[in-house]
Amino acid sequence: MKHLRIGVMTGGGDCPGLNAVLRAVVKTGIRKYNYEVIGFRDGYRGLVKNDYVILNDSNVSGILDRGGTILGSSNRDNPFKFLIESGGKMEERDMSERVVENISIHDIYAMIFIGGDGTLTSARDFYNKGIRAVGVPKTIDNDLNYTEQTFGFATAVETATDAIDKLHSTAESHHRVMILEVMGRNAGWIALHAGIAGGADVILLPEIPYNMDSITESLRRRKDLGKNFSIVVVAEGAKPLGGDVVVSKIVENSPDPVRLGGIGNKVGADIEAATGIETRVTVLGHVQRGGRPNATDRVLSTRYGVAAVDLVHEGAFGQMVCLKGSKISSVPIADAVGTIKYVDPNCELVMAAKSFGLAFGD
Ligand code: F6P
Repeated sequence: MKHLRIGVMTGGGDCPGLNAVLRAVVKTGIRKYNYEVIGFRDGYRGLVKNDYVILNDSNVSGILDRGGTILGSSNRDNPFKFLIESGGKMEERDMSERVVENISIHDIYAMIFIGGDGTLTSARDFYNKGIRAVGVPKTIDNDLNYTEQTFGFATAVETATDAIDKLHSTAESHHRVMILEVMGRNAGWIALHAGIAGGADVILLPEIPYNMDSITESLRRRKDLGKNFSIVVVAEGAKPLGGDVVVSKIVENSPDPVRLGGIGNKVGADIEAATGIETRVTVLGHVQRGGRPNATDRVLSTRYGVAAVDLVHEGAFGQMVCLKGSKISSVPIADAVGTIKYVDPNCELVMAAKSFGLAFGD
């Protein structure tokens, strides 16, 4: 009997749990449905260049707890605007038909796209071109709509919380203000959760533009209470009231070309100038994307991987697996992409933090 073949790829910035999803997809595909599984390397680049590997039980064994992705990933290759060298110059070409051809060359019945907004936006477009597509929501930023949680977020929060714990002891020894800048693009989920878990004194979110006078007032109040140090967690997308984000670089051909970074240094310099308290800045960076997924992400990734293969079996194409309450469900990919899930400045978590004195610089 001929086995149906499914394809899988991991796109966008990597995060902890990608390998756990791949493992669940391959094992479920083979054991539950007798599928063959083919993996494309380096995100959409592998689909454009037909760079693939057959995935089986043995090459996904031992990867549940491994960071990164055994398939490789890329957050710059948009198949609809793919950069190709021509006459010594780089030119943008629409390579989406090549992707469709490669999927058909391998006789692939359905594709599972594991990624964030950029990857899933292209997955939606391939679905509209006739590819039987299923999406899995990935990103440390947790900024995808229609899912309560993306995998990778829980581990990033744990990494950032661990950094805050470490900053606490050195802040206390030196009577300093310690700033921690965390990732998250234009959403403040990592900063909010890690800030609360780590006992930060001030959290600056993109969703709550800050006022420097309000921050220095909070820090002075702490000093008056005899606290000789403070911890400030700054989301990379934070911005002053009436001001703008700090951009660290522009990455051409990336679905979202703006890379944020540097606001922590600005906030640190402004605090030191305004209060005279010695201030140091740590930019946590890609440490948040690396390393072993924590137990929460391993479980969520596994559930998502299994559910994605079940959707293929049910013929529920154009759908993305998601978490609704504590249950795994699915939504149209088209609904989930193109908008960002922001922190609501009046949500229960922000209000709870404010009620015990945590400041948001507003
Ligand atoms: O989307 C994940 C993320 O890590 C963001 O939090 C961050 O702004 C961005 O990717 C960094 O991208 P790059 O890996 O291209 O520096």
